[in-house]
Amino acid sequence: MSTAKPLAIEARGLRKSYGDSTVLDGVDLAVPEGTIFSLLGPNGAGKTTTVNILSTLIGADGGEAFVGGRDVARDADRVREAIGVTGQFAAVDKLLTGAENLHLMGRLHHLGRRETRRRAAELLEQFDLVGAAGRLPSTYSGGMKRRLDLAMSLMGEPRVIFLDEPTTGLDPRTRRTMWTIIRELVAGGVTIFLTTQYLEEADQLADRIAVLDGGRIVAEGSAEELKRLVPGGHVSLRLHRLDQLEKAANLLGATASDPEQLTVQVPGDGSVASLRSLIEALDGESIEVEDLTIRTPDLDDVFLALTGRPEHRKESTR
Ligand SMILES: Nc1ncnc2c1ncn2[C@@H]1O[C@H](COP(=O)(O)OP(=O)(O)OP(=O)(O)O)[C@@H](O)[C@H]1O
Ligand SMILES: [Mg+2]
Repeated sequence: MSTAKPLAIEARGLRKSYGDSTVLDGVDLAVPEGTIFSLLGPNGAGKTTTVNILSTLIGADGGEAFVGGRDVARDADRVREAIGVTGQFAAVDKLLTGAENLHLMGRLHHLGRRETRRRAAELLEQFDLVGAAGRLPSTYSGGMKRRLDLAMSLMGEPRVIFLDEPTTGLDPRTRRTMWTIIRELVAGGVTIFLTTQYLEEADQLADRIAVLDGGRIVAEGSAEELKRLVPGGHVSLRLHRLDQLEKAANLLGATASDPEQLTVQVPGDGSVASLRSLIEALDGESIEVEDLTIRTPDLDDVFLALTGRPEHRKESTR
């Protein structure tokens, strides 16, 4: 892990309960500047609660958290100046037009009239909202509302941005537009804290991913590291001759074979070295391979394997 970059977000032992239900049960986070961090977890895991604590909207019951080096509890005003938040539910004022909403944010950030106009025009352009700028957000599509919401959070040129499910309900093309915008922000040095229900989104965007379940981080790492945690990777080889199937299966330690498809399944990561040794072993016995497919576990496999197990649930509610 790189230690060179200072941390944009740091949390230690965060705790939060509502009544006797424990939502966060000691959460540690460390997000280096200029990176994308994604928090995953099932519905109700506490992702929005974590975002709300880090963005100073609610207080934690225990632990401590720093954003941009400032304590979210003791220095909330300074934290707010440095961050942008795009909520799970758009925080757009329905009585103001798109442009007026941006101008309002400019005033809230004390940008001054000229700078407010300049930035609003720039963001309307960037987010493809120029034509809709004079209309009320109630006339916008879901994707346009999301884009306006994100544009609003960018008015103050935040260094750290919290995106709570920014692409939920967006069509695949609009989602990709959002990804491009997010990547551009990070290229400019901004730090992104992202929650998402779309594991492919975390896979595509995040430098590091943490999985929250039962009030705790149950796994953390790059997408590749997390995928290595779960079994499921295998290579499927299709042979040329049925009478060689059993021999091949024994030779390779196959976990399954299918006489109809002429395939044998071998656990493995699909690396070039492992494929070469499989083929060489078969070659040595003059067993011909017709073709092969590699299946690597995806983040869905990781999510299903790591979350929602009963033992986690019990811990969190007792
Ligand atoms: N103000 C509140 N009062 C009581 N319970 C709350 C409150 N806010 C959140 N909770 C509870 O805390 C738990 C975590 O909620 P949170 O919204 O953080 O989950 P989430 O991970 O964001 O879920 P989702 O994926 O559905 O958005 C839930 O059980 C929720 O009911
Ligand atoms: Mg949520």
